[in-house]
Amino acid sequence: MERVATPRHYLMVRPTYFDVVYSINPWMNPEKPTSTRLAIAQWEWLRDLFADLGHEVDLLPPRPGLPDMVFAANGATVMNGRVLVARFRDSQRAAESDAYLEWFPAHGYTDVRQARWVNEGEGDYLAAGSVILAGTGFRSTPRAHRETEEYFGVPVIGLTLVDPRFYHLDTALAVLADDTVMYHPEAFSAESRERLAELYPDAVLATAADAAAFGLNAVSDGRHVVLPQAATGLIGKLREHGFEPIGADMSELLKAGGSVKCCTLELHGTVPAARPDR
Ligand code: ARG
Repeated sequence: MERVATPRHYLMVRPTYFDVVYSINPWMNPEKPTSTRLAIAQWEWLRDLFADLGHEVDLLPPRPGLPDMVFAANGATVMNGRVLVARFRDSQRAAESDAYLEWFPAHGYTDVRQARWVNEGEGDYLAAGSVILAGTGFRSTPRAHRETEEYFGVPVIGLTLVDPRFYHLDTALAVLADDTVMYHPEAFSAESRERLAELYPDAVLATAADAAAFGLNAVSDGRHVVLPQAATGLIGKLREHGFEPIGADMSELLKAGGSVKCCTLELHGTVPAARPDR
């Protein structure tokens, strides 16, 4: 099957202040040394790759004292040009929301508001064709799912995560094309697993090893799938399904529990050229 890439619009945040100084997921160990320089180099590689693939990348300026801000996916959910800014579960990240509440209106977005309930943006909300797949269990709450459904007017399908290593939906599942996903079944409750099997009978399934390598934290443009290079099993399966996998080394960011998708907020349904600031 011929897979077709479509140009995407991403928002990213340079890891200028990246560090691991607290622990809010099992990957984070503040005792382990981190290199901000290496994190920046890995992130720049990803940003350049997106540009080379023909995608538009906007940058939101990082703020000191917010070491997790590189994980732009968590800042908001953007669909049809409407923006729902995150409300973080953990106090350490709460101030990140302010940066998004300021950035979007300053860049031509008129429909912007902050979620009322714990909602960690595209970490937990993934657009999949005409529906939104939404994770809960660790961060975003079921109440937040309903708020998202009402705000965007798009059906939200709730999925429950059960393994603390896969605490955001984007660590356990990636949307490859409107009707195709890849995921790690064991990261979900039995009920959610059934739901996924029913919705996506032809899904690409990740082994425990691929999931542990953060292989599901991937970004697809419909053809190119950028994912951690250590997820070798998934790389082979994606090729068999007609995709073009591109391995990324994001080892430094993984120390905070993040990788390719976490660094990438997709601005769905915005036409950058038509925005007033350009
Ligand atoms: N340290 C961050 C946290 O635990 C990592 C966020 C990763 N982002 C993601 N979209 N999964 O909140």
